[in-house]
Amino acid sequence: MSKKDQIDTTKLPKHIAIIMDGNGRWAKGFGKFRIFGHYNGVKAVKTTVEAAAEIGIKYLTLYAFSTENWNRPKTEVDDLMELLVDTIKKETPTLQKNNIRLMSIGNTLDLPEKCYLQLQETIDATKSNTGLTMVLALSYSAKWDIVNAIKNIATKVKNGDILVDNITSEMLDNELSTKGVPDPELMIRTSGEQRVSNFLLWELAYSEFYFTDKLWPDFKEEDLYEAILNYQQRERRFGKTSEQLITN
Ligand code: FPP
Repeated sequence: MSKKDQIDTTKLPKHIAIIMDGNGRWAKGFGKFRIFGHYNGVKAVKTTVEAAAEIGIKYLTLYAFSTENWNRPKTEVDDLMELLVDTIKKETPTLQKNNIRLMSIGNTLDLPEKCYLQLQETIDATKSNTGLTMVLALSYSAKWDIVNAIKNIATKVKNGDILVDNITSEMLDNELSTKGVPDPELMIRTSGEQRVSNFLLWELAYSEFYFTDKLWPDFKEEDLYEAILNYQQRERRFGKTSEQLITN
């Protein structure tokens, strides 16, 4: 039986988040510039989005550009921004055809104007699509998002709209840029690195982590299926005991 056929479609994670890592090393392996890795990373994005949509995943969050990535050499940042604009523009008809909705999280106002406008245009054009929601994390860092959320809550306290004692975790959920998106059940990171790198720190509280040595441009449908199968073998206890899970 193929990996895809082994997946229990009644137990799919609703939301998968991915740290797409290893583009630079992949390019280096071919003696090429880093941008060559990012170009091929886009191919892996296409493959993964289409495979996820096909098996019925509802949300897919991709860490495409972190707040810290602004510190990369200017040529790489410029090339990446260009690639983002071109890809989003070129792929908009495919998103429409596949009923995929685009969303973004992060400080997108920091993006070059051309990139920001194209992003907003595609978000707007796909907003009524009801299939997979693809969430692009752009100029994103979880600490940035959490600090913003705290500022918003503090302002409400200052204005007398809420009492400090009434602050809840749901209130924070609603102030984050991931508002309305369920927390990811599964987080995948490629390239052998095993860290979270300021990605969805709040939302990953109970996620299962899956690490693969594959570099992102080498990530194929089969790798996504493998990660899902691995996830489906895990027992998610949310702080309870195994026995409680059986009796409940
Ligand atoms: C990490 O690899 C990858 C990035 C920082 C950029 C990822 C962006 C893409 C794949 C393009 C996305 C495009 C769309 C439209 C979603 P790295 O450069 O850190 O690799 P390294 O760790 O080997 O140096």
